[in-house]
Amino acid sequence: MKATKPLKLAVLFSGSGSNMQALIEACQAPEYPARIITTITNNPGAGGIQRTKEFGIPCHVVNHRDYKTRIDFEQALLEVLESSGADLICLAGFMRILSPYFFARWKGRIINIHPSILPRHGGEGMYGEHVHASVLRAGDKESGVTVHHVTAECDAGPIIHQRFVRVLSNDTVKSLSKRVLAEEHIAYVEAVAMLGELDENKNSLHDMGMSKHTLSHASNDVDPQELEQATFMWNWFTRMIKYNVVGIVVLLLILLVLFV
Ligand code: GRF
Repeated sequence: MKATKPLKLAVLFSGSGSNMQALIEACQAPEYPARIITTITNNPGAGGIQRTKEFGIPCHVVNHRDYKTRIDFEQALLEVLESSGADLICLAGFMRILSPYFFARWKGRIINIHPSILPRHGGEGMYGEHVHASVLRAGDKESGVTVHHVTAECDAGPIIHQRFVRVLSNDTVKSLSKRVLAEEHIAYVEAVAMLGELDENKNSLHDMGMSKHTLSHASNDVDPQELEQATFMWNWFTRMIKYNVVGIVVLLLILLVLFV
């Protein structure tokens, strides 16, 4: 699988950065179809910063606390990302929720790793130990890892790759998270390799319903405020529908009885 033009990665992290290190190590192999060109953290105290130093990988600290608004913070992130020339953003334990504005700018070119078999144990509030606690509470016999495309809906983007981990009867949150993390390191490397190989072969990208367009820069002329407002309205509308679906059905039935 010799890559003539490796995929250029920007890895975003907030904590320990062990998944980032797995990618850094994989990218050292000449035949691996990706290279890390930059890393960014929002957390000046992140353990992962030391890892980037050890491997001589550029690391930018863009501390969200230094910015008044989320949009200002994201503009600073975008400046680093766009000047880096990255093709793909790999979120690796990046603990900031990104706005629809950000997604519009990098549409189809952001991936994430989640420590469960999505769609199980995903969504808002499902991160770190919460995920593993939820798996144990549910009595699942299997857990695992999902690498997925990132969309505006939390943990709901198209799945790229999954690996499974058996849940043991005596598992604790700690023991399960340890085994899942080891699988994450393999899964992320495999998933990026798949995308790197697909990116070289445009036909394959089309076959998977992810046209080459998904790996090229989106238009930059999006008004962040307008997009934020539109997304807020859309989220509000979809939540209304989601939580009131029973109410709407009952209302429709009443209207039917009254007027038909
Ligand atoms: C991982 O469990 C990953 O699935 C989640 O955040 C954690 C990051 O761990 N998104 P690390 O910083 O890569 O060690």
